[in-house]
Amino acid sequence: MDKIRVIGGNALKGTIVVKGAKNAVLPLMACALLTDDEMVFENVPHLADINTMTQVLRHLGADVTHENETLRVRANAIRNFDAPYELVSKMRASFWVLGPLLGRFHQAKISLPGGCAIGTRPIDRHLYAMERLGAQISIQNGYVQATSSGRLKGNKIIFQPTVGGTMNALMAAVLATGTTEIVNAAAEPEVTDLARCLNQMGAKISGVGTRRLLVEGVDSLHGTTYKVVPDRIEAATYAVAAGITHGELYIENAHLYLMEDVAFVLSRMGLDVIEKDNGLFVSGKNCELVATDIVTEEFPGFPTDCQAQVMALMCLAKGTSTVTENIFENRFMHVQELVRMGANIHIQGTRTAVVRGVDHLSGAPVMASDLRASAALVLAGLAAEGETIINRIYHLDRGYDRLEEKLRSVGADIVRFRPIGDEEI
Ligand code: EPZ
Repeated sequence: MDKIRVIGGNALKGTIVVKGAKNAVLPLMACALLTDDEMVFENVPHLADINTMTQVLRHLGADVTHENETLRVRANAIRNFDAPYELVSKMRASFWVLGPLLGRFHQAKISLPGGCAIGTRPIDRHLYAMERLGAQISIQNGYVQATSSGRLKGNKIIFQPTVGGTMNALMAAVLATGTTEIVNAAAEPEVTDLARCLNQMGAKISGVGTRRLLVEGVDSLHGTTYKVVPDRIEAATYAVAAGITHGELYIENAHLYLMEDVAFVLSRMGLDVIEKDNGLFVSGKNCELVATDIVTEEFPGFPTDCQAQVMALMCLAKGTSTVTENIFENRFMHVQELVRMGANIHIQGTRTAVVRGVDHLSGAPVMASDLRASAALVLAGLAAEGETIINRIYHLDRGYDRLEEKLRSVGADIVRFRPIGDEEI
């Protein structure tokens, strides 16, 4: 099993290019099921999660190719309507095919995803939306069976906030009869990206980017070429890398409108974050990191997917910071690993981590527990004294395209290696 070795202490300097957002690509791939025509997605990174979605679509009968950064999907010969346990348990975003399968083929059988390292993550809001659109839902043998007799019917859907639920609802509603109103919709940039792509395919969605989406159903959609929105979480991760190493990075394709709250928090902590040309210039050179408080919220609030990375930065900031996690109930798995590196962090209650800044971190062997926790450990390793070995980095490969290569290109001492005798998993 691959590991990453980081020797901390190098100030990073140079340019890193951010690719399309994983969490936008996955639903976009699912939405390709809504048309017979070819869909072409540009700016698509090579990630394990994208390979998993490729397997899901191929299982359904779609043609998928991914060359360089162009991903093509053609769903003109769909013959299966199920997403099996082996794939959904590997990646819960496989569940995002429910909406398009129901919307276009009026049937779907999708494995229930089960729990995950960051929380229980139920799918009740997705099912509520499908039922509101007229689907009959039953749960049998670990699978959700959903059917409708003919086209779904537009209706009002009042959500408790959910990113994936909003995406599934949108993809189901675009081919329904009549109008669907989605109230309290998620407004994350990846949801907006999906809605824009659907409109480019001929859908009629208004209110895009707001919490109230109106979908006027259409009879059919057509193919299009769509450039995926840049990955704001990847961008934020590299912004923290600049800060934690007291370096300077130009992060190409990073944009303030996608990550205003993160930029604001980093500025409060002492970093310079400046919009320049087609990216963000982030500097932690000569800065003294200062403590701050963050609370994770729906967009445009501070994203839960950046909480672990910013916590790594807080470990070295002067004073006491707090992190309150409001989205997931168990997203502090990185805390004990950071503590192994010398951080001073205590969990208060179930939702808040109190981080007292220390003078230095020291390298240690650590275990990645999920995607963003892995990134936080790499970041801590970049600043720590000595060697940090990060185990279970397959989590990292789910969402970061060649992270160690990108960091090495700006001066980090970081390598991926496979211990002798370890088998490929
Ligand atoms: C998406 O997950 C992202 N995943 C997550 O990114 C991200 O952390 C999350 O949105 C929040 O921004 C993808 O886009 C593939 P939710 P999603 O439905 O859609 C509860 C990463 O690191 N809930 O908005 O699953 C849920 O348990 C990942 O890239 C229900 O209770 O998130 C959570 O507490 C991790 N019932 C909250 O809502 C439901 O039916 C928000 O979840 C659905 C959700």
